[in-house]
Amino acid sequence: MLKPLKISIIGAGNIGSAFVSGLIQSGQIAPEHLLVTRRNTEKLSILSELGVRVSTNNADAVRFAEIIILAVKPFQAEDILKEITPDILDTHSIVSMVTGLKIKRIKEITSSNCSIFRAMPNTAMATGESMTCLSAAADCLPASTALIREIFSYVGETEMIDEGLQEASTILGASGIAFALRYIRAATQGGIEIGFSAKTAQRIVAQTVKGAVSLLDKRGEHPEGEIDLVTTPKGVTITGLNEMEHQGFSSALIRGLTASYRKIEDIK
Ligand SMILES: NC(=O)c1ccc[n+]([C@@H]2O[C@H](COP(=O)([O-])OP(=O)(O)OC[C@H]3O[C@@H](n4cnc5c(N)ncnc54)[C@H](OP(=O)(O)O)[C@@H]3O)[C@@H](O)[C@H]2O)c1
Repeated sequence: MLKPLKISIIGAGNIGSAFVSGLIQSGQIAPEHLLVTRRNTEKLSILSELGVRVSTNNADAVRFAEIIILAVKPFQAEDILKEITPDILDTHSIVSMVTGLKIKRIKEITSSNCSIFRAMPNTAMATGESMTCLSAAADCLPASTALIREIFSYVGETEMIDEGLQEASTILGASGIAFALRYIRAATQGGIEIGFSAKTAQRIVAQTVKGAVSLLDKRGEHPEGEIDLVTTPKGVTITGLNEMEHQGFSSALIRGLTASYRKIEDIK
C-alpha cells in the first residue's frame, strides 16, 4: 500500500537520487510525495518525468514534507541547515546522510526539538539493495525511529548502530561498494586471461558473488565453512586460494579498510 508520507531530499546528487530511484521502484511511496532539490535542476529531468517534484528552494522542501533527508557534501551541510532552520517544526524528522556531521551539531545549528537521525546508505539504494546503518538521537521516540527504519527498508537492509560507529559504517558499507566492485573487476580480468570474453567473465563473476552471498544469507554459515566445502585436498581451489593469501589478499583488504578509516578520522 502506498504511504501518504511526504519526503524531501535536499541535495539530489549521486546518493540523494539513488534514494529517490529506489523509493519509487519499491512502490511504497508515490513519486508526487517526493520532492528533491539541487541548484542545477536540469540534471533532475528524469526524476521530474517520473512525477517527483523538483525545486531549487530548500525552505519549500522543508515546508512540503514531514521527513527531510540531507544529502549534500559535508562542506555544504551547515549553511543549508542554517537556511532551513526557520521552517523546521518539532514534528519534522531530519535524516542526515552527510559523512562526519554529528547529531549534536545538527541540534546546535537548528535548536530544534525535531527528531534527528544519521543514515549511512550506499549507492545500491537505486536497486533496492543498500546496506543502511542508522543512528537516532537519544530523544527520538521509538515510533519515529521505527518509521525511519521502515523507509530505509524500502531500499535495502538496515541496521541500527551507535553514532560512534557511523564513520566505520561509511568505510565498510558505503566505500564497501567500491571495494566489492574492484574484486569483481579484478576477477573478471583474470577470467579474460584464462579464456572468456570480458562480458561473459563479468557475468560469471557477478553471479558467483551473488551466489556466495546467498549461501551466507540462506544457510547462515561462516564464510570459512563454505570455503572448506569447495577446497578439495591437493585441489585447484586451495592452490589458488593459498597463492592469493601468499600475495596478501586478506591482508590487502584489511589494510585498505583500515587506511580508509584512518583517512576519514583525519578528515573529521
Ligand atoms: N556517494 C556515496 O556513495 C555516499 C554514500 C553515503 C553517504 N554519502 C554522503 O552523501 C552526501 C552526498 O554525496 P554525493 O556523492 O551524493 O554528492 P553529490 O553527488 O555531489 O551530491 C550533492 C548534491 O548537493 C547539491 N547541492 C549543493 N548545494 C546545494 C544547495 N545549496 N541546495 C540544494 N542542493 C545542493 C548538489 O547539486 P547542485 O550543485 O546542482 O546544487 C549535488 O547534486 C555526502 O555528504 C556524502 O558523504 C555518499
